[in-house]
Amino acid sequence: MKITVIGAGNVGATCAESIVRMELANQIVLLDIRDGFAEGKAMDMNQTSSLHGFHSKVIGVTNDYKATAGSKVIVVTSGLPRKPGMTREELIGTNAGIVKSVVSEALKESPDAVIVVISNPMDTMTYLAVKESGLPKNKVIGMGGILDSSRFKYYLSEAMNCPVSDLQGTVIGGHGDTTMIPLTRMASYQSTPVSNYLSKERLEKVKSSTMVGGATLTGLIGTSAWYAPGASGAALVASIINDQKRIFPCCVYLDGEYGQKDICLGVPVVIGKNGWEKIIDYNLNDSEKASFSKSANAVRSMNSVLSDL
Ligand code: APR
Repeated sequence: MKITVIGAGNVGATCAESIVRMELANQIVLLDIRDGFAEGKAMDMNQTSSLHGFHSKVIGVTNDYKATAGSKVIVVTSGLPRKPGMTREELIGTNAGIVKSVVSEALKESPDAVIVVISNPMDTMTYLAVKESGLPKNKVIGMGGILDSSRFKYYLSEAMNCPVSDLQGTVIGGHGDTTMIPLTRMASYQSTPVSNYLSKERLEKVKSSTMVGGATLTGLIGTSAWYAPGASGAALVASIINDQKRIFPCCVYLDGEYGQKDICLGVPVVIGKNGWEKIIDYNLNDSEKASFSKSANAVRSMNSVLSDL
């Protein structure tokens, strides 16, 4: 069993490390365009195997797609990260070219793989991968909502001073600072609404901190974050590889669901061995529906840039 991660930078290497520590496959191929970079990262990770006690291997390669042949999942993290002050959307020109070429090269070797897109702007990159790959829509999944939801739960747990494991919270819509929709109405603390514990103002603050969660980290670190993005990617891969049927908010191609067509946007989906298997209807109220439609409009206008490239 093989899993490939393309891009051995901060997010790709962290994702590969999580995957190898979970032993989701016996071979994890880490591919990068930079000479020797993936090889070095792979060697470093393999040298932790006796410490962490895993038996899988990371195989680092420089642009050698043959080594990725027969992968069950291809995780795409290649591309530029954000710099402070940049939005995810500003990366579109460069990253579209990279995502298009790596997806096409990888699929030549692994035509049956499920593609997981992490490169930003993720909603548009996922749409590009659906359109360019010709894969069935269920086999292309954008990872953004899992990360945004884990940030949402983090900020909730800080505000409520409770363990994050006792909280449920989901972020749907786009993966941009202004397009994501933390569903505060549905967030719960052991089956009770979080609004029982937090004032309206505090909940709004949690929501706004979540929405700029990535930008906050970019400001602090100087580049975009990697621990939570890498771990979120690995959780998604685990549900695919182990056919766990977990429900995650993921960016998928909508064909009328949630009132949208011909767009990839974050909605709750069941994730199993065939990719995303089913979209769950959260019965949004009118204001949530309006936010979703606003988010779709923004992502659609970003997607339109693709045709000008
Ligand atoms: N093929 C393979 N690897 C490539 C290619 C390519 N065509 N182009 C770039 N890369 C590699 C770079 O060499 C680099 O090692 O992608 C890697 C990107 O790593 P980082 O610069 O560390 O960026 P990272 O923080 O990992 O973010 C990657 O994920 O979360 C998103 O916004 C983020 O779009 C960005 C992506």
